[in-house]
Amino acid sequence: MTQELTSPSPAPQAPGTGRGPGWWRDAVIYQVYVRSFADSDGDGIGDLRGARERLPYLKDLGVDAVWLTPFYASPQADGGYDVADYRAVDPLFGTLQDADDLIRTAHDLGLRVIVDIVPNHTSDRHPWFQDPELSRQRYLFRPGKGESGELPPNDWESVFGGPAWTRTDRGDWYLHLFAPEQPDLNWDNPEVHTEFEAIMRFWLDLGVDGFRVDVAHGMIKAPGLPDIGHGAQAQLIGAQVLPFFDQDGVHAIHRAWRRLLDGYGDAHGRQVIGVAEAWAPTAERLALYVRPDELHQAFNFQFLNAPWQSDALRSVIDASLAATASVGAPTTWVLSNHDVVRHTTRLGGSLARARAATLLMLALPGSAYLYQGEELGLPEVTDLPDEVRQDPAFFRGGRATGAAGPGTDTESAPDGVAAAGGQDGFRDGCRVPLPWSGELPPYDFGPGGSWLPQPADWGGLTVAAQTGDPASTLELYRAALDLRRRLPGLGDGPMTWAPAPDGVLAFTRPGLLCTVNTLGHDVELPAPGTPLLSSAPVTVDDATGRLPGDSCTWWAI
Ligand code: GLC
Repeated sequence: MTQELTSPSPAPQAPGTGRGPGWWRDAVIYQVYVRSFADSDGDGIGDLRGARERLPYLKDLGVDAVWLTPFYASPQADGGYDVADYRAVDPLFGTLQDADDLIRTAHDLGLRVIVDIVPNHTSDRHPWFQDPELSRQRYLFRPGKGESGELPPNDWESVFGGPAWTRTDRGDWYLHLFAPEQPDLNWDNPEVHTEFEAIMRFWLDLGVDGFRVDVAHGMIKAPGLPDIGHGAQAQLIGAQVLPFFDQDGVHAIHRAWRRLLDGYGDAHGRQVIGVAEAWAPTAERLALYVRPDELHQAFNFQFLNAPWQSDALRSVIDASLAATASVGAPTTWVLSNHDVVRHTTRLGGSLARARAATLLMLALPGSAYLYQGEELGLPEVTDLPDEVRQDPAFFRGGRATGAAGPGTDTESAPDGVAAAGGQDGFRDGCRVPLPWSGELPPYDFGPGGSWLPQPADWGGLTVAAQTGDPASTLELYRAALDLRRRLPGLGDGPMTWAPAPDGVLAFTRPGLLCTVNTLGHDVELPAPGTPLLSSAPVTVDDATGRLPGDSCTWWAI
């Protein structure tokens, strides 16, 4: 810390302070992947100052909150999800003062700030893991199998490929569900609980409005760490309860954190939230993470994984709404993030579909998460040379060695997310730095270059190029977010399906009807009202509406 920090800046006071209807219930939250958002110092890596300077852009875009991916001290073995000091900012990204400044500026602009917390594992450079005695108590060490302990303790595989165990010089093994540089913590040890509660308080004291809980389904492992019994474990993640994911025991942790968050919020007149990144096999099991005494939101990856097909979309939407309604929580919607193929590419390389999917998402009840760059319609970058890649899954040998992992399974990337259309299922292609202006890389990402090369043809996709062009994807997002704010009830209100031809979805929200044509060709139907906003030009003649293929339209009714 470079200087004494003052008391936290007040969060925006607009609806939802204290208890009562929460601000998060219908919030649109924008994910800033810090290293790729904006670079202030010219090292080619985005940082907190760069992000702070660009906050007015996010205010103007119309989002309610910002989620910052990890910027903590880290050797960066997994893009910062390997934390060596949870209370320090990595020099790559700035200082604690920069974090404080960013939170203040966001609050001044009326934006809330959510930060990541990574409780399943630390970096292997964390002082706890570096200490031979402490590490044995706070991580999961086990003797190996075989005559001289030369075999891993069980058959678990790392999400990034290869065994989930690494042998130490002392001969025993430690568990890492992700990279070997990310040892799993032992949540049976109360000191681990105490430490994470203290970390949360540290960031709450700095003014953050909540936490995105990384691998919220992972902290508790089945007693005895039993074998799974067959390979291809990557394909089972999110499909069934595994001895290392979605164990019932994780819920006690989330209950404790909810008590902490509510207690802190009550004491400080704030509403602070927890968002679970949890992989559960069904919408019902996912809903357990957002029971009234657990976290506030959970990412709805079932929606993200749904194919662009009306029946599939409808059933995912119904299942999601029913499951969260059963526990009184809002549903969340998300189409892209830093772990999955950008939805423009995933949905068949079709910007038309991506725009339609976004308008659909923003018309659904609940909260929505946007991933930086989707508002520009950015595609996945699929031709990165091997020498620039940084995703640890790539080096864990998914494809190269044939080991199980995201690379061998084009249907699932880390955590089981749909990877269709990406570069071998790895994650660098969605993390290419943003283009802000200009005709050539780095497109004003910063004064230097960019840590991953940007395509030479992104000049037309920059923020500057799209601003003011009513046909642009950026202006579509701005218009949708503006309408979402102005139409009461569009966020956390009721939704009713309306009759529609095959391949088309139609549903009403207060004051609005939304139609989605998932087919590749025009569909005609009786015009249900006046078009308010459409992802593609819609025409209305003599009370007949013509919906372009792969489009979504919001109608005033
Ligand atoms: C989450 C993060 C991902 C990371 C993993 C391990 O899935 O979103 O980026 O690699 O956790 O921390």
